Amino acid sequence: MNTTIRTASSSDEQALSELEGSCFDEDRRASRLSLRRSLSSARQVVRVIDVTPTNTAPSPSLVGAAIFWFYPRSLRIYSVAVRPEFRGEGVGRRLVADAFRMARDRGAARITLEADQANPTLIRWYEAQGFAVTGQLPSYYAPGRDAVRMVCPVT
Ligand SMILES: CC(C)(COP(=O)(O)OP(=O)(O)OC[C@H]1O[C@@H](n2cnc3c(N)ncnc32)[C@H](O)[C@@H]1OP(=O)(O)O)[C@@H](O)C(=O)NCCC(=O)NCCS
Repeated sequence: MNTTIRTASSSDEQALSELEGSCFDEDRRASRLSLRRSLSSARQVVRVIDVTPTNTAPSPSLVGAAIFWFYPRSLRIYSVAVRPEFRGEGVGRRLVADAFRMARDRGAARITLEADQANPTLIRWYEAQGFAVTGQLPSYYAPGRDAVRMVCPVT
């Protein structure tokens, strides 16, 4: 599978909203307003991965996206999402690697994120990419739905 990575623009809003719908429960989906803010904010960037068009599938198709927030000394991975039928092919890892590249370019010392405590597969996935759990965030998503904070230094 050939893919390309780029910064999203306002014309990607519909595709990003569909991606959210295929990846997150309703209570965790970014609203259209929140997506629009992410696409226009100077403190955020939305990076997307398209499958490169081929003769049999001529239009580019957005298969994954990540939203990053920039802070003075750190970058926060706000979300990473890959369309279910394209998972397990390294698209998610490529988006995380892109976060490291952007963090280095901006001189950030660390990358932070919040991960669902009830999803040990996801926590292990981030650990395999250098992140460590540094704290608990009780009722972070909703009452009784906890998260963990994870951090990785940028070297
Ligand atoms: C987490 C996620 C982005 C990984 O994307 P991906 O493109 O499948 O990631 P990669 O191909 O780079 O890595 C796949 C590996 O991650 C594992 N994995 C990590 N988290 C997972 C999850 N939530 N569901 C399924 N597999 C997951 C798989 O077991 C797989 O392991 P393998 O390579 O040994 O087979 C994707 O599963 C997803 O969109 N999940 C729903 C949204 C979500 O929970 N996002 C993270 C929090 S914002």
